[in-house]
Parts: sequence; structure tokens; C-alpha cells
Amino acid sequence: MPERKPPAGEVDPEFAFDPLDTSRTKDSEWLAHVRRGRAVCRPSPGVVYTSRYAETQETFRDPRRFSSLGDMRAPGVVVPEHERFLGEVDAPLHPRIRRILQPHFTRRGADAAEPWTRASVLRRLQALASRGSGDLIQSLAIPLPGSVSAHVLGIPESAHDQVMAWCDELLHSSWPTTGRTERGDGIAECFPELAAALDALIAEREAAGPEAPDDLLRAMVQTRTEDGWRIDPRHVRTLCVNILSGSLSASYMLGNLLYRYLDDAEFAASIRRDPSLIPAAVEESLRFESPVTFLLRTVRQDTQLGGCPVRHGEHVMMGIASANRDESVFEHAGEFRLDRELPFEHLAFGSGPHLCVGNHLTRMVGKVVLEETLEEFEPGELRLVEGYRWECVAHVHEYGPETLDVQVRR
Ligand code: HEM
Repeated sequence: MPERKPPAGEVDPEFAFDPLDTSRTKDSEWLAHVRRGRAVCRPSPGVVYTSRYAETQETFRDPRRFSSLGDMRAPGVVVPEHERFLGEVDAPLHPRIRRILQPHFTRRGADAAEPWTRASVLRRLQALASRGSGDLIQSLAIPLPGSVSAHVLGIPESAHDQVMAWCDELLHSSWPTTGRTERGDGIAECFPELAAALDALIAEREAAGPEAPDDLLRAMVQTRTEDGWRIDPRHVRTLCVNILSGSLSASYMLGNLLYRYLDDAEFAASIRRDPSLIPAAVEESLRFESPVTFLLRTVRQDTQLGGCPVRHGEHVMMGIASANRDESVFEHAGEFRLDRELPFEHLAFGSGPHLCVGNHLTRMVGKVVLEETLEEFEPGELRLVEGYRWECVAHVHEYGPETLDVQVRR
């Protein structure tokens, strides 16, 4: 029977939900229900939701019809260009910046950061082992990815914790949605200490010329295009904050992987028996428990998506978590499996021009954390504490455990 397409503007009563209601947007049963019924539905006025792979990918890949501009901001808030994260920037500026960042975010770049990452993971695991207990989220999953990104940027290790603490404060302030806080407008007024620390590093790279270290900061500060254009130094500062705070999604992936290691004895035994399965485990975790559950786009022109009319100015909620369990694309989509042939194209990192720049770095971090955990702890030595209860982080989009309280029994 052909699927009924909802007329433009009409909310689907059977598939209605509040986009901010995480009891819906993070509920795999509910998402499966939507996916079975509609490729695209209208859950609330002015919003359409893509539940399947094809339409989610189509939205990601078509910035002409679906714009990223302003989607992390509250309605009506417009921030200056130099205050925008990369995900909020459209062409022609977006590809120009992306070309400068890209060489530092290749697989080879991730491989180069691996020894540093391994040493950092080992240090954190050994510290946990000597304490005998702790929360793996706070001691490893949260600080590690930001620290790896700070390392790639070229921020000295002694400043990583402080810079990440400021970024965390920024992310939990009103700045992401409004561009301001009670301290003023923009990053420089809202977070003067963070801005000063980053501006000092930017000035250093500028002053050092060819003597500057070959890091991402240098590339952002010194690269000039043929027509003399360069990234506005204030935008370099915002992009540093973007890269550092973007790393938090990797924290949720680490939480998901570590929880599986601690909770699923068969999984732990499989990767211990055959560590070459670890990259597949990382990939499958990204698909099956996508750390970013959905993202938004604004419709630029009246169009249609999966047969559903959508109007200029409406929002598309790209259902990443649902699309990644689309049974027409992934066999046994509702099962976590280690036997999927790599590479398989999940949408956890998005797709198209805004594909996550941190994807190779994230895969490397996931692999190293599992490898070092296996190396440091004998089977059964690292355990969830008695009575541990899994609870999801309270963020609207993000999926992963809030805490992972463990004990080390040697
Ligand atoms: C599990 C880990 C991660 C997930 C699931 C994730 C997810 C995503 C997704 C879905 C996008 C696409 C945004 C869009 O289309 O609007 C994105 C973009 C981005 N991510 Fe990640 N990310 C992760 C890790 C990282 C890391 C470690 C970094 C920093 C190195 C990072 C930095 C960025 C940046 C700067 C963008 C914007 C790219 C652009 O607009 O061109 N992400 N990420």
C-alpha cells in the first residue's frame, strides 16, 4: 500500500512528539515505530523528522535546500560570522575554512596523534587502578578527547585541563543559544580568560612565522589563499572552541564503548580474543548507539523530502539515531554485531560537506581506549560497582552514560 504523505503544515497525530522530548528522541522502540510508518513525518508544527537513512543522508548532503545557518541558536538570534561554529557556516566561507583544517584531520594525522593519546590513556587508567575505584566518565571519557584535540591544535599540555574547563563552562552557558551571557556579548566578553589564552596562542603563531610548530593552530593562523584571504583571527579563536567542545561527542562514544565492555562479558571476551575486531566495535557503537541522536537544518526553499512537502523556513530534524538502524540499509539493524564488513557508512558523523572533521581522530581514540583497557586490566578486574544504574546524559541530542562508576579488584 502506498505510504500516506502528510500535507504541508499538518502534524501527524500518530507520530507527533516534542523535538526536545528525549523520552521520544532517544527511545529506539519509538523511533522504530516512526521508521516503520513514515520515512518523513511532521512531529510538531514547523518541524519535519527524517526517520530513515535515505532522507537523512539527502538532507545532510544538500546544503542548497537545507541550511546549517543558525541551527544551534535560539530563534531570531544571529551572531557575527566570526562567532560561528563551522557547522553553522554555509558556502562560500565553509569550504574555504574546511580546506585549511582538512590536512590536519586525515587518517594519517590521527595516526600521528596515536602515541600521545596512548600514553595519556595509560596514565589515566593507571591512576584509576591505583585509586581502586572511580567514575570512568569523569576520569577518562570526558577529559580525554578534548585533550587529544588540544594536542592536535598545538595547545601546551599544561593548559589542557584549564582550557577544557572554560569550554565546558561556555557550552553550559547561554552563549551557544544566544551568543551572549550576563557578562556581555560574544566569546571575548563572556569568557575573557578563555579568549585571552587562545588569542595569546594565535599571536604566538603569527609572530613565529616559519619557525612556528607545524600544528593546526599554525595552519589556521598562517594559511593565505591565492587571493590573500585568511581566517579572521577572531574566527580562529571560535574554531578552537568549536574543535575543543566538538570533542565532547567522542566522550559519549567512549562511555558507550566502555559500558559495553563492562556490561557485556561476551563482547569483552570477543575483543580480548581477537583485538583486530576493535575497529569494528568502534564503528558499530557509532552506528548502534549514535552519540549525536539528531541535528537540525533550516529549509531554504519550498521543496519536498521523501514525498513530504516542506516549506521555506521550516526545520528538518535529521534523525541520525533512527537512520542508523534503518533495516533496509543494515542487516539485523537492531543488533550490535562485530561481523559487519568495514567500512560501512553509518551517519553518526553526518554526511556531505559538514561531515565531522574529527571522525578519524575519534576512531583512533576509541580504538586506543579499548586496547589500553584490555592491556591494563585482566578479565574481570575492572567492574561496574554493585547496584550501578545506567542513566543517559541529560543533553537534548547526546546519547551515552552519565556515569560509569567502577571498582578495580586485583
Ligand atoms: C563520537 C564522536 C563524534 C561525533 C558523533 C560527531 C558528530 C558530528 C556530526 C554529526 C557532525 C555534522 C554536523 C552537521 O552536519 O551539522 C559533526 C561536525 C563536526 N565535528 Fe564532530 N563528532 C564527533 C567528534 C568530533 C571531534 C573529536 C571533533 C574535534 C576534533 C569534532 C569536531 C567537529 C567539527 C569542527 C564539525 C563541523 C564540521 C563542518 O561543519 O564542516 N567532532 N560532528
